[in-house]
Amino acid sequence: MDKILVLDFGSQYSHLICRRIREFSVYAELVPFDISLEEIRKHNPKGIIFSGGPSSVYNSDAPIPEDAIFEMNLPLLGICYGHQLIVNKFGGKVKRANKEYGSSLLTIDNDKDLLSGVGESVRAWMSHGDEAEEIPPGFQVIGHTESAKAAAIASDEKSVFGIQFHPEVVHTEQGTEILKNFVLKVCGASQDWTMEGFIETEVEKISKIEGNVLCGVSGGIDSTVAALLIHKAIGDRLKCVFVNNGLLRMDEEKEIEEMFKNNFKVNFSSINAGESFLSKLKGVEDPEEKRKIVGEEFISVFTDFAEKNGPFKWLAQGTLYPDVIESGVSKGPAAVIKSHHNVGGLPDWLNLEILEPLKELYKDEVREIAKILNVPQNIFMRHPFPGPGLAVRIIGEITPIKLDITKRASKIVEEELIEAGLYGSVWQAYASVGDDKAVGVVGDERKHGNIVMIRVVDSIDAMTADWTRLPHGLLEKMSNRITNEIEDVTWVTYAISSKPPATIEPQ
Ligand code: XMP
Repeated sequence: MDKILVLDFGSQYSHLICRRIREFSVYAELVPFDISLEEIRKHNPKGIIFSGGPSSVYNSDAPIPEDAIFEMNLPLLGICYGHQLIVNKFGGKVKRANKEYGSSLLTIDNDKDLLSGVGESVRAWMSHGDEAEEIPPGFQVIGHTESAKAAAIASDEKSVFGIQFHPEVVHTEQGTEILKNFVLKVCGASQDWTMEGFIETEVEKISKIEGNVLCGVSGGIDSTVAALLIHKAIGDRLKCVFVNNGLLRMDEEKEIEEMFKNNFKVNFSSINAGESFLSKLKGVEDPEEKRKIVGEEFISVFTDFAEKNGPFKWLAQGTLYPDVIESGVSKGPAAVIKSHHNVGGLPDWLNLEILEPLKELYKDEVREIAKILNVPQNIFMRHPFPGPGLAVRIIGEITPIKLDITKRASKIVEEELIEAGLYGSVWQAYASVGDDKAVGVVGDERKHGNIVMIRVVDSIDAMTADWTRLPHGLLEKMSNRITNEIEDVTWVTYAISSKPPATIEPQ
């Protein structure tokens, strides 16, 4: 498989370069900027891209890659900071300029190679402090903006290019075209990165491992897809275990069991530990305390299962590529199969090695695999759900009645969103209940009932979130159904706090 290496100089967009390239079916991998020549040779890339980064090439602590990389005769493309590195390295000059953020008009001066087919001018996204003042000897300007005279440069002899703007962000018109020109035309990479191909090679790789694999599944897409890939490779040597902590969404445990056992015929155990979780949570109101109890109980149940059903040599996890790479200047992705660990607080004496088959993949790629492996749509389109489950959705102590109300009301919220065609466009949606009560009139009687809070939020990464402006008619329908169908509820409220200062979950 042909590969493009992206050297990470710490830009917030470094990841996007890989994603954009993978979108046109070429495998791209993000590696640390100080990767050794030997490591690069092992990767055998068709070309190298230098990402942007916050530094200036003249800073004493500026990240500089190995010199020999510039002499490998591999096609090189520098983006933003990477552009300045190339200018500097090949004998040009970089100067401090006024910071430029946002979109600029890039005029194309030479439309062969990198900028072929993009037209006479395009809007290009800039985010930089330094810029090229003098281009290196043997280079020419192939594109400029009003403020950056050398916004795109190319070597006359070698396949070396530098661009001041970011082709990987959607705000750059024809950005993908420019990356395609580099990757496909200049580097000559083949478009052979497909999820079908990934499944085939990964299954082949996993089929060579020895010993039994234990995989904790949650019903979420990542652990489900990881388990299915491993199952394809080693069949019944994989044991999946699902811990029902009694804090799940309505009927979730049945759906998960049905999918693994009946649809996929996977060696699957469901441990109903609801009572032990709930008894340990009895009387506990503090959110952090609840989280701690759920975490510890999970490890205890999981360890007990591993001990009784083992021996296992491997622990499988659905870790994804973004989880692997640290923010800022990355330390680089670890190997797909890493030995030794102590992840998630499992005790060392279990002596499990870690198997992470999705470690190279982005979420959308995992979704594509899920489709290929026939994972039902309702599983892979489902909203994220917190690990401690309803323990962080229910305010205050968890009681059977509050659990029942939360599950039923949340189901109504989900059903109504699906019916309105809005489920897929919101980030998370649920109903929560606390200890406050309010008076209502049911028939002729006044009744002191529970208050249910509906929470629906928009977000792109859960770091920030905004409350969703749902149509009033839809909120009314949810409210009516909740008070009509759940006898203990008299009032329904809608949470209109954003994150920050609120959080997505109330506990
Ligand atoms: P908050 O409430 O902090 O949530 O805005 C951000 C995202 O994380 C989920 N969440 C958790 N997930 N363990 C988890 O695995 C937790 O303790 C936890 N708390 C919140 C939440 O559902 C949202 O997607």
